[in-house]
Amino acid sequence: MRESRRAGIPPFYVMEVFKKAHARDLVTGDVLHLEVGQPSTPAPVLVRDEAARVLLTDRLGYTNAFGIDELRDRIAAHYATRHRVDVPPGRIAVTVGASGGMVLALLAAFDGGGRVGITEPGYAAYRNIVSALDLELVGVRVGPETRYVPTPGLLDAAGPLDGLIVASPSNPTGTQLTAAELADVAGWCERADVVLLMDEIYHGISFTEPAPSILEFTDGAIVLQSFSKYFSMTGWRVGWLVLPEGLVPGLERLAQNLFICPPALAQRAAVAAFDATDELDGNVARYMESRALLVEALDRWGLPHAPPDGAFYFWVDVSSLGDSHQVADEWLDRVGVAVTPGIDFDPAQGHRHIRLSYSEAPDDIARAIERLDTLLGRRGAIEGRSGSAPASGS
Ligand SMILES: Cc1ncc(COP(=O)(O)O)c(C=O)c1O
Repeated sequence: MRESRRAGIPPFYVMEVFKKAHARDLVTGDVLHLEVGQPSTPAPVLVRDEAARVLLTDRLGYTNAFGIDELRDRIAAHYATRHRVDVPPGRIAVTVGASGGMVLALLAAFDGGGRVGITEPGYAAYRNIVSALDLELVGVRVGPETRYVPTPGLLDAAGPLDGLIVASPSNPTGTQLTAAELADVAGWCERADVVLLMDEIYHGISFTEPAPSILEFTDGAIVLQSFSKYFSMTGWRVGWLVLPEGLVPGLERLAQNLFICPPALAQRAAVAAFDATDELDGNVARYMESRALLVEALDRWGLPHAPPDGAFYFWVDVSSLGDSHQVADEWLDRVGVAVTPGIDFDPAQGHRHIRLSYSEAPDDIARAIERLDTLLGRRGAIEGRSGSAPASGS
């Protein structure tokens, strides 16, 4: 059957790497997963307990298209306590993850052909969603000169835009915009009449300073958020948008028609996630441990990387070792360490980079480092670390 031009969007290559790593795992059982972009932990205990209770007692029918009031109120309270901003629950839409939120936001804010900028490197699926919705994708290149964050100068150079997608902390680079940098981007968008779509999905996972929200600087931006990352609830498929007042009615009509509502069980359980900060901050402490191990190892291997301010990624320049696809294949085939070649995130420069995710347990990250130390032939002192696995094929 003939398929639409839209269906011709590129695959999300990270999922292909994931498939390949799992195929090897079935045979060898030894793969260490530094390719996955999701927490290795389940949803917090409080969330699972609430889900079990609600499952037995509640009808779990459709909810309002924008989600249950209890959750929207909790999200509004979160902005008041974490960011000291007043967000009326009426401007909050609960969505099917940030992914569902992005589809709705793009449809509500732009007509076909609208020019939407996205940082390169940047999150691949957003780029592909922009194209699939018949919007014009405009790459805004960011690099080491600006710590991989967009600046007014880089935005001026991108040409005319209708919208701009920025993530902080970013996937794949892990870099985070400071308050001053966020204010600059918000100001630039306001002056240029560009709709800013600000992805704050990695908020809560920051290592240098807590990530400020764009809502501290403007209420004209669209914020994309999710329970997937800090809240450790990827498969529950629940996230939220904070909307400028003017987009509320139209986006609500789109949400009603496209999705009816986000999953009811996940919404009910997500309310409890805001009480689970002790458990969730424990996860962040483990990311911090793994991050420290990798900083040391990457320095030892002489591989430059973007500053790992937040999220759980390193964006690593492996051009001294070869093309990133070959590097990823070699690391998986020879020592069972799965990583993602950068092409997903940056079509132009991705062949020079890989993305390392450290969302798995610190012991697994330490074992991956030991195997790579052997492979890269620059074994450093990793004294007193246990759990080393045999490096298959090397
Ligand atoms: C930057 C970024 N935005 C959005 C998403 C999608 O998240 P969700 O699970 O909420 O749809 C991801 C997932 O990895 C991501 O890294």
